[in-house]
Amino acid sequence: MSQASALSVSTREFLRQPNLVGSAFPASRYLVEALLDPIDWAKLRVVVEFGPGTGPLTRAILERMVPGSCLVAIDLSPHFTRHLQETIDDPRLLAVTASAESVVDILEEHALAQADMIVTGIPFSTMSADQGNRILDASADVLQGDGALLAYQMRSTIAPMLALRFGDVQCAYVWRNLPPCHLYWARRPLKHGD
Ligand SMILES: C[S@@+](CC[C@H](N)C(=O)[O-])C[C@H]1O[C@@H](n2cnc3c(N)ncnc32)[C@H](O)[C@@H]1O
Repeated sequence: MSQASALSVSTREFLRQPNLVGSAFPASRYLVEALLDPIDWAKLRVVVEFGPGTGPLTRAILERMVPGSCLVAIDLSPHFTRHLQETIDDPRLLAVTASAESVVDILEEHALAQADMIVTGIPFSTMSADQGNRILDASADVLQGDGALLAYQMRSTIAPMLALRFGDVQCAYVWRNLPPCHLYWARRPLKHGD
């Protein structure tokens, strides 16, 4: 797929729904490497991506995942999920048009009990606090006990929300992206009742 084609899909979707898409520019390779390189991919069998957009992280995740694993990429926009289905030929990818809030049901429908990792670029700063809380509650519930949630965000709205639901949250900042982004690695999900 050409970069021009990905850019035109993401620009069109950004102009249609700026609050949902957050940025007209796909994630840079600097952001992708900074976020994904610290992860030990050999152990991961089920990875979920929220808001794959045109798929710069989706492709990089698939490059790192082992054979026989599964990547469930969930995006609200059918234009993005169709773009992924048309441009990525990989049996490990399942592209689903839905909201991230439905992650528990989506995994159940595909006979996947829990996720080893969630990667998200959906903009928590422009959605309602209620929706953000529902998405992160579902994320903490669906992750394995040793699972992790990785996030890249233009603003730091998500930071206190992660601190409530994860026992260990590390962060960094990447300048070489349009726009520059906060990165988060949240581990030790706290389950209801913890
Ligand atoms: C900043 S874009 C990320 C795009 C992609 N990672 C990239 O670098 O091109 C945010 C994406 O989140 C999706 N999105 C927003 N809210 C969502 C939700 N509640 N559930 C699933 N996807 C959502 C948007 O449709 C958009 O594709």
